[in-house]
Amino acid sequence: MSNEINRVPHAAGNGLLDRRLFLRSAIAGASTLALTAPSIAQWVGEGQPASMLTPGSGMEAYGLPAKSELERVKRWTIPPGSGGRPMSWGGLTPHHLLHGTITPNGLHFELNHQGIPDIDPQQHSVVIHGMVRQAAKYTVEQLENYPTVTRQHFLECAGNSSVLAADKPADPVMTLTRTHGLLSASEWTGVPLATLLDECGVEKGARWLVVEGGDSGSTTRSIPLSKAMDDSMIAIFQNGERLRPGNGYPMRLFNPGYEGNTSIKWVRSIYVSDKPVHSRFETSKYTDLMKDDVSLQFTLEMGCKSVITRPSNTSKLSRHGVYEITGLAWSGAGKVRKVEVSADGGKTWAEAELQVPVQSKMLTRFRIPWQWRGQPAVLQSRVYDEKNSCQPTRKELLAAIGGYRHYHYNAIHSWSVDKSGEISHVFA
Ligand code: CO
Repeated sequence: MSNEINRVPHAAGNGLLDRRLFLRSAIAGASTLALTAPSIAQWVGEGQPASMLTPGSGMEAYGLPAKSELERVKRWTIPPGSGGRPMSWGGLTPHHLLHGTITPNGLHFELNHQGIPDIDPQQHSVVIHGMVRQAAKYTVEQLENYPTVTRQHFLECAGNSSVLAADKPADPVMTLTRTHGLLSASEWTGVPLATLLDECGVEKGARWLVVEGGDSGSTTRSIPLSKAMDDSMIAIFQNGERLRPGNGYPMRLFNPGYEGNTSIKWVRSIYVSDKPVHSRFETSKYTDLMKDDVSLQFTLEMGCKSVITRPSNTSKLSRHGVYEITGLAWSGAGKVRKVEVSADGGKTWAEAELQVPVQSKMLTRFRIPWQWRGQPAVLQSRVYDEKNSCQPTRKELLAAIGGYRHYHYNAIHSWSVDKSGEISHVFA
C-alpha cells in the first residue's frame, strides 16, 4: 500500500497529493484497518449487541437528532449584555462538526439584534407601497399560492470572522464556530420579489426599496431595486419546512450573496423609493470605516472566501498516513471557479476537487488528499470566483483595512500542524 502511495504524483509541497487520488479505490482504502478472520468471526458470529435483542423505541411526531448528537453538535450562543454593554444575541454554526453543504435548520446561524419576535402567521403580512401604481398586502397563505422558486444559497453575516480583523495574536484554540460560525447555507423557497413588484407596478424613477422587519427594533435596510428585480425573494420555506422563528418566521426577505443583515427577517413593509433611507443598520452598523476616516456605506455583496473545516483544531492527527483536507468556499458574486490548498503556509498550492454541482452564491465543498508523515505543516485554502476575485492573505487584507473595518473580513485562514499532530489556529 505504501509503495502505491509513493507513486501518486505530489500536487504541491509538504505532502499534498493529486486531487483525483480518492477516486482510485485501491488507495482510497489506505487508512482502513484490515480485518483478520478471527475478528470477523467475533463481530458476525459471537453474540449480538443489545440493540438486536429487544425491539427499539417508537418515534417522535417531529424527529430530532440522536441524543448523543444533540450534545455533540450545538451552536455556540452569545447572550446579549456580555462585557457590560448591550449586544445582540448570536447563535453560530459549528462547521467543523458538519459535512456536505446544507446547514441543518437547528444549527443555522442567527444574529438577532432585538431578540426573536413571537409572530402569529395568521396576523402577519408584508405590504408593498411607496412608488408603485397599486400598493398590496400579502399573507403567507397568499404567497404560497404564487409560483415559487427553490434555490440553494449561503447566508453570511457581514461580521462573520470579524474577530480575526483585530491586530492581536491568533488564539490557537479558537474554533471554526467562533471564526466562521456566522455563515450557513439552506435550500430557500419563496416568491421572487420581482413577481410582486411587477404586480404592484413600480413607478419610473424608483431606485431603492426600504425594507422593514416586524421585530421590536424594526430592523430596516435599503436594498437597490436592481437587486430585488434580479434574484431577491420573499422566503417562506427553509430546507423544505416553514422558516424557523429565529430565521424570520413566517416570512423574510432573502438577498442571495448580500450581507446577512439585508435579508430582513419577519419582513412586514417594503417601501419603494428613489433613495435609500440611511437607517440605523446602515449608518451606525454595517458601514465600513476606512483609514482616512471615511465610511463606506452599502457594501452589500459578500466577497469570496474559503476555509478548511477538517482537519481543524478540535481534533488531532492520530496516525501518519493520507488525510482528506476538506472545507467550504463561496462568493457573493456568483460561482466558485477554483479552490487551491497549501500545506506549507502558502509557498506552494495545489488545486482541490470541487463537489458538484457548483451553484451560484452557494457553499461549495472542496477536498484534496494530503500525506502526513509527522512533518510540521500550515494548512490553508484560497478561492477564486467566477469574476476572478481571489481571497486575500491576512496581511494583504489588514494592509487595506488596517485596524478600522471589521465587516467583510475574508482573508485566508491557517491551521498549523505540529510534529505530534496537534492542530492550532495561527496567522500565517
Ligand atoms: Co457591508
